[in-house]
Amino acid sequence: MPGAAAIDGELVGEALSCRRGGRLVFAGLDFRLTAGGAPLLTRVFYSDSGSEAVEIALKMAYQYWRHRGQRRALYVALSESYHGDTIGAVSVGGIPLFHGTFRDLLFQVEFATCPARAKDAGAAAAGLEAVLARRRGEVAALILEPLVQAAGGILVAPPGFLARARRLCDQYDTLLIADEVATGFGRTGRMFACEHEAVVPDLLCMAKGLTGGYLPLAATLVREAIYEAFLGEVEEVKTFFHGHSYTCNPLACAAVLASLEIFERERVLDHLPQKIEHVRECLRKFAGRAHAGAVRQCGLMVGIELVRDRATGEPYPQAQAMGASVCRRARLLGLITRPLGDVVVFMPPLASSEADLEAMLAILYRALLLETEGGEPA
Ligand SMILES: Cc1ncc(COP(=O)(O)O)c(C=O)c1O
Repeated sequence: MPGAAAIDGELVGEALSCRRGGRLVFAGLDFRLTAGGAPLLTRVFYSDSGSEAVEIALKMAYQYWRHRGQRRALYVALSESYHGDTIGAVSVGGIPLFHGTFRDLLFQVEFATCPARAKDAGAAAAGLEAVLARRRGEVAALILEPLVQAAGGILVAPPGFLARARRLCDQYDTLLIADEVATGFGRTGRMFACEHEAVVPDLLCMAKGLTGGYLPLAATLVREAIYEAFLGEVEEVKTFFHGHSYTCNPLACAAVLASLEIFERERVLDHLPQKIEHVRECLRKFAGRAHAGAVRQCGLMVGIELVRDRATGEPYPQAQAMGASVCRRARLLGLITRPLGDVVVFMPPLASSEADLEAMLAILYRALLLETEGGEPA
């Protein structure tokens, strides 16, 4: 637990005085995030959770256009996306089970089809373009989870979709918000998923992996041009009014610095390709099983979709809760994981060794066979 070791008594003392190694904790963190983390996104706004990082991005996008003399209250999002549980984040969420209840409370959003459901990047981008073209001049921002729609069921977008979405935002003059709350900090094999397609969003939301998961801290990074739109004389009141009591908690900031140091010192990113490949190898046998409808992987994000009939894709009856049964069984066998409906999620810690990964997947395989086929692996 190296991250936990960093949150020791000494660090608490340093953090509460807001200084570490003689420099201000947040200033040090600002620098680490903008210079080393997500180049070209030069400004940071801190918050406490992924949902809040998204709220901030949505509000900033809206206010940015206001400062440019335009009222744009419409957002574009992808169906089956998840961006958090606060009302703005729910508005741009596309999972009926989670978001449907609150429909009356939500603001205006147009949804383009989830790219993972399209036949390729071209088809997915065409659907998105149709929406952006129809609502040209009205859209404050497109928000998406780059590469992988995580809570939607580890839905992996076809390669090239993200870069096309970036180009479409430029073409139709709107902002791109990349929600990297789930995909950021190495999860997909690069520090940020956007790097896979050389995409620089206008706003980027990060949380979870920012502190290695140990303390609540989130951030919304923006391009300089967005920051500049908020500058002005006091009487112009261009201020971005958003601040919660615990914003930029210095102890959490210190945990981020410690986690980023571990990324560097232990060359976490350099070791990922081999681990990702190893997981890919271990997953091969899952794909052959009668009830594994699809095995999806992007980096160290895996979703195994369980179906009653693989040939027809017929799902299990909802009441059977097969995903939950497999996860419960895995827990009894020593592995904690979670289902998203009938998709069993495997998101191991980045620090896992190849032996750890193999052992975890062996448990999952056994749990899957016991629950779906009623037998032990041969
Ligand atoms: C892509 C994405 N955005 C936002 C969130 C919300 O983050 P939080 O639970 O920290 O509010 C999540 C959480 O799972 C997420 O996966």
